Formats: sequence, C-alpha cells, structure tokens
Amino acid sequence: AERARIDDLIARMTIEEKAGQLSCFSDEIRPVGTEFNPKVNRTGTAEQLRAIEAGRIGMLFNGYGVEGARVAQAAALRSRLGIPLIFAADVIHGCRTIFPIPLAEAAAFDPDLSERVARGVAAEMRAAGLHWTFAPMVDVARDQRWGRVAEGAGEDVYLGCQLAAARVRGFASGGILATPKHFAGYAAVRGGMEYGPVDMSERELEAIHLPPFAAAFAAGAAATMAAFTEVDGIPATANRDLLTRRLRERMRFGGVCIADYDADRELVAHGVARDEADAARLAILAGIDMSMQSGLYNAHLPALVAAGAVPIARVDEAVARVLALKIAAGLFDDPHAGLAEPARVPDLRPLAREAATRSIVLLRNEGNLLPLDPSRRIALIGPFVRDREHLNGPWSFAGTNDGVDLATGLARIALHLAVEPGSGIQDPLPGGIERAVAAARAADLVLLAIGEGADMSGEGNSRTEITVPTAQMALAEAVAATGKPIVVLLRHGRALALEGAVAGAPAILATWFLGQTTGDAVADIVFGRAEPTGRLPVSFPFSTGQQPWSYDRPPTGRPARDADPMAAGKAHWRDAPDRARYGFGHGLSFTRFELGAIAVEKSGSETEVAIDVTNIGRRSGTAVLQLYYRSLAGTYVRPRLQLAAIVRRTIDPGVTTRCRFRTTLPPGPLHLWVGEASDRPSPPTDIQQP
Ligand code: IFM
Repeated sequence: AERARIDDLIARMTIEEKAGQLSCFSDEIRPVGTEFNPKVNRTGTAEQLRAIEAGRIGMLFNGYGVEGARVAQAAALRSRLGIPLIFAADVIHGCRTIFPIPLAEAAAFDPDLSERVARGVAAEMRAAGLHWTFAPMVDVARDQRWGRVAEGAGEDVYLGCQLAAARVRGFASGGILATPKHFAGYAAVRGGMEYGPVDMSERELEAIHLPPFAAAFAAGAAATMAAFTEVDGIPATANRDLLTRRLRERMRFGGVCIADYDADRELVAHGVARDEADAARLAILAGIDMSMQSGLYNAHLPALVAAGAVPIARVDEAVARVLALKIAAGLFDDPHAGLAEPARVPDLRPLAREAATRSIVLLRNEGNLLPLDPSRRIALIGPFVRDREHLNGPWSFAGTNDGVDLATGLARIALHLAVEPGSGIQDPLPGGIERAVAAARAADLVLLAIGEGADMSGEGNSRTEITVPTAQMALAEAVAATGKPIVVLLRHGRALALEGAVAGAPAILATWFLGQTTGDAVADIVFGRAEPTGRLPVSFPFSTGQQPWSYDRPPTGRPARDADPMAAGKAHWRDAPDRARYGFGHGLSFTRFELGAIAVEKSGSETEVAIDVTNIGRRSGTAVLQLYYRSLAGTYVRPRLQLAAIVRRTIDPGVTTRCRFRTTLPPGPLHLWVGEASDRPSPPTDIQQP
C-alpha cells in the first residue's frame, strides 16, 4: 500500500514538484526562538510560506516550536498535491535540555545510557514539532585537531558501532528518524583541517569508517548525510562510488541520502563542476537524494531532465525515498502528528545529570587527593568558574538557558569556596593572575577549571595545537607555584595534549562539555557523592605532533622496546614516547581493582572469556573491563590491539566477582587481553581460533 501511494503521487507530480520534495531549507518560519533570530523571522517567513504552498520545499530544518510548525504544515497542505512537510533539526546532544556532548557521553562506555538519552531527547524533539534529527555523527575520529571530534563517539570502531546503533534505536523508540553522518571518511581530513581533503586506502575506509554506518543502518536509521569533503579526489557529494556503489549496492541502505549544507553548490569551488547546473547534475547522479539549502535542485533539475542529462527515473527514485520517509514519520496519516498541542515532556534534567556524571573521567589522582572533604578551604579558579556561555558546548542553540555553572554546583556542597576567574579563555584578565594566586594562598587546595571555549571545537573549529590556551597556562603555572595541591577540571571538546603545571597536577578530571547540569555533576564526583566511571573514548597524546593517533594503530616491523623506547633504528619519536599520555579506555576509580588470569571458556564462532575481578580498595566502585585482541598472523597487518567487548560491574570492597565476555573473534592465532584501559592490559593469553 505504501508503494502504491508513493507511485500514485509520483505519477501526478510535475518535475518542479519533484524537485521541491528534494529540496530543504533552514526554517525561517520558526527560528530558534524569536530572540534568537528575529531578523530572519521578519524577513523570511512570508517568502518561505509562498514557496511551501507552491510545492517547492520538502523539508524545513533547524526551526523549533509547534505553533510555527502548524502554520508551515498548513501551507504545505494547501499546495496542489497537499504533500506534508517534514521537520528536521541538528539535535546533537539535547533539544531544550542540553546533555553532554556526544564525545563526553561516549566516555560512559554504555550503549544503554546512550539509548536512554536519545529516547529522552526524542520526546523533547516531538514537543518542538520535529520528526527527524541530523544525528548521530558516527565518524570515527582519530585526529584531535579536527573540531568535530566533539560530536562523535571517539576513536574506536567497536565502541563507535555500539553507540551508533544505540543512539539510532533510542531516537526511533522516541518517534524520531535518525541520520548517521557524514558518509564517509569525513573525520580523516588532512592535518585535521575541517572540510579539507581525505585520501585513504580502501582498507581503512572499509575497516574503520564504514562499520558504524552499517551498525546504524542495521538499527533502522532512516537517512544518511554525505560528507562535505572529497575522498580520493572526488567530493562525497559527487561521489558515485561512495553514494551508490557502496551505500546502495553493497550496504543495501534504502533511506534518504541528503547533502550537507550547500554542499552541492560547493562542487564548483571544489573544482569538479563547471557551474551550478553541473553541480546539481553531479550530485543527483552520484546519489544525493535531497539538496540542502542551495536551492540547486529547484533551480536546475527541471532543465537537466528536459535535456536528458538526468534520467527521470533517478529523480523518481529520490522522490520515492523522501515520500517513504514522510510515511515512516506518520505524516500522510496525520500531517499534524505531534503538532496539535505542545506535548508534555518529562523533566529530563535527572537523566542529563546522570549522563553528565557518568561522562566524567578521572585521569589522575595522586595520593588519592580526590574525593575532597567539603569542609576544606577551596579556591575555584579559572575562566569557566561562573561560565554559562560556554557551558553547553557546540550545537546547543535551542537549549534552555538555566544551566548550573561550576561555582553554583560546587557551592551546594563545599563549605568554604572562594571563586576567582584569573584569566579569560584566550586572553589574560588585568590583575587576574594576582587575584587567583591570592585566592590559592588563602585556600587548602585549588580547583582549576581550564580548557577550551565552546567555539574551539565543533564544526569549522580545527586547531593546530590541541593544548590549553597560553593565557590559561600562565594562570596554571602561577597557581601551581603557590605549592597548593591542584585538581584540574578540564573543559574540552576533544582530547588535549596536557603540558606543564596542568599535566603535573596531582588530580585531573576530564569534564568535556557536560551541558546543563555541569556544576552538579562535577560536584558529585569531586566530593565523592558519585564514583567516577567514565573511560576515555579518545587517547590523550603527549603532544599535538602525535596526531592522528589511535590506540589500535598498526604495529611496525621495528617496535621500540619498553626498556629503551628511544632506541635509534626503532620506530620512535625523538621527543615523545610512542604511546599516549592517557590511552583510550583509561579512567580511574576511587577504588582499585585486581584482575585474575583470563580463562577462555569457549572458542569457535563465539568466544567466551572469563576473569575474576577483586575490589581491593575501601569504596564500592565500577570496573569497566575491556577485552582486546590482536591477530598474530593475518594476511595483512592488523591493529596492535582491538577492542572486542566491554563489561561493567559494580563491586563492593573486598569482593571478587567473575566477569564474562562473549564475542566473535576472527580466525587464526590471537592474543587476548583484558584490561581497564588499552594501555594497561593484562599479560596476553594465546588463543587459536579455528
Ligand atoms: O547537519 C549539519 C552538518 O552536520 C554540518 N553542516 C550543517 C548541517 C545542517 O545544519
């Protein structure tokens, strides 16, 4: 019945109406709150309503609110064929309630949490009149100079697949269509520079960048978005090999493939299209179903089809996919689905706080400095202490503005808290260092909140140095010179290369951009009301020059020995070790665990591995155990370590628990490890897979 309905509509559509269904534009009818963009609201609305009535717009994106959506939908229903609009948005880490950035949430190492978060966010999306999110970003990001690391699940393929599928399931169960993006290889831009060229081997594309898309598609994703970048000389938007041969023929994806913002027009700047008409031709022939914002499909598809340059069958195929998406969203049965009344959404702040607390990673804790006794005199220093502007991080423009900053959250528990910014994010504050040093001297210890502003990561925010900005480093050095113990509270949208007084601080917490409940979540960990259970989804290098980096890089034929890591003639850098400062999977607890020997209980098509874990500390804690393997004699060079499974177990002090992993491993001789981080695995166990 669905197909018949689609065919019937297509048979009655003009080529202009078809191009209209394949065109989407930024929502000028209901921009993010009138206070957010009043100019657009005044000038664009009438024109956009006329275009909708004329059947020239199939989807609007990045607008919020049901009242405006009703107005826009009514205009669509007045169009000749009455095909409803669908409303999409970049809901990347929360809609009204802002959650931790996806990279932070990945640190929870817990697909169940990611699924619950996506489901909760979906409810807020529905209440804002939305059907479709341009998320999750599933690009596997190994170069921390790239700003969009913040939006994904980090450097690992296994974790990336698990979280991609979980996020898609969560959105779907909340009634929202998902868009794993950006197809494909976008994260591997040369030098980490956003929008730059990508040149990678077939093997890398297949083994690293495509699996999370496959996982997201298998979980029911409705759409995908092509990358801005070129891959092997052909921009993804014009790349038939990527968008048709791989995506359709090999991966069997049947949903909509949408261009990124203006990306079809950008084919001219890339130097592969002669003009805008040629760009539209290349995009649709490559496999782009929907053109975003450029208007090129509206402007050129009719003439391209009339001239025989684009077969009408290809246009119809794309239209059929878009109509199928609208049917999947229930819009043909009820075009006002979810738009009638502003739906009541449960308060998501408790879930946001749970996600935020579980995203925090304890990188270092010399002498068990943390958790803190709330009665100690604490100086909270740094540009983020009272910060609201940078609290939520990139892609949070529709969020509410009532987040809990650090000073507020910590003051709810601390008995003596002095607060002093000491520096701006990029620039010194006049007299700031002097005031901060005085505050540190008057305190027992310092909480130093430093790192990146919200605009230093996310789209278009690549960096050549992934360090704490110079002005803040000067503050850190001056505060450290007081001799007071420092707990660093890092704020960041990527892994950072820590230096000087920051690297040397006795305690360091990775707190990313945690969203609206930042202050409460950080206070929970700092004062030990919650255990730190986060683990790094990206390796923290010693220096920027180690980028791109991942724990699963291939072994060399000349590995450096631990005893002499700088040995000439071995694979090494002269000025940095061949390892990360804090590797993928790293994260400390307030207690310690001891691991027994690995027992392989079953091998074959499914492998079962067991290990005894004992909590040898004095507090209850959660072990996040990671099973890694290495193929020892493959037909090509395999990663030196590859994550295959994760088991988390909360264990009371003095208790030993047997933990079991179940996984599918490749054939041949393997080494297996279980560890609490990729760089601290147990001794390897040999196993011979049939
Ligand atoms: O969805 C985004 C994409 O990830 C980057 N460019 C803009 C799009 C729409 O806002």
